[in-house]
Amino acid sequence: MRRWTVFSLMFVMLGLGSALVAPIGLAADAAKEMAAKYILATSKAARTVYIKGIMADATKGGMKPTEDWVKDDHGMMLPAQFVKELGKEIKEFDLSLVGTDPLYASNVAKSAKEKDMLVELAKGKEKVLVVDDGGVTVGMSADYAIVDSCADCHNKHPKTTKKDWKKGDFMGAIVVRLR
Ligand code: HEC
Repeated sequence: MRRWTVFSLMFVMLGLGSALVAPIGLAADAAKEMAAKYILATSKAARTVYIKGIMADATKGGMKPTEDWVKDDHGMMLPAQFVKELGKEIKEFDLSLVGTDPLYASNVAKSAKEKDMLVELAKGKEKVLVVDDGGVTVGMSADYAIVDSCADCHNKHPKTTKKDWKKGDFMGAIVVRLR
């Protein structure tokens, strides 16, 4: 009789234990998903401020956005480079860009899951996607060629593998990877 009491107590404790652990596990993922969304929104806002606030003003004063901004006294970084520079300052997680036809290897989707995410975003139904990629929470915020210059510059870039970008095309995404 006593043995059964011990067994049933063990079962109750196991049940209670997993009931407590399971929601905490879920909560952690939900928290990461939320964090990814906030990071993407903040990065996008920072890039917009850079374009509308800083770049617009500085170009009036004679500065010009150019990929080789480091070497050019009057050059300033491109918006894509601005996001990547932000990412370089952050040690806690990855912040960068990915492209469907990227100019550089560093902007290639890092896994099959990330490739799937780009395919999904290209459908245009969602602007932001967050998925679990084998324990890494990956978030992407879609980037479209909103003005002609996006397409023009990418079409003419020496490293491009695609020369028929046009306004409105889905080009890639800002990506965040939380480990
Ligand atoms: C003056 C040239 C120029 C313009 C204009 C430009 N880009 Fe880019 N873009 C680049 C360069 C160069 C990179 C690669 C930067 C790096 O990885 O260091 C890049 C990277 C990207 C990437 C990452 C994938 C890739 O192709 O390597 C995306 C997505 C992107 N740009 C989207 C856009 C969008 C959307 C616009 C317009 C709102 C835009 N770009 C305007 C030059 C440009």
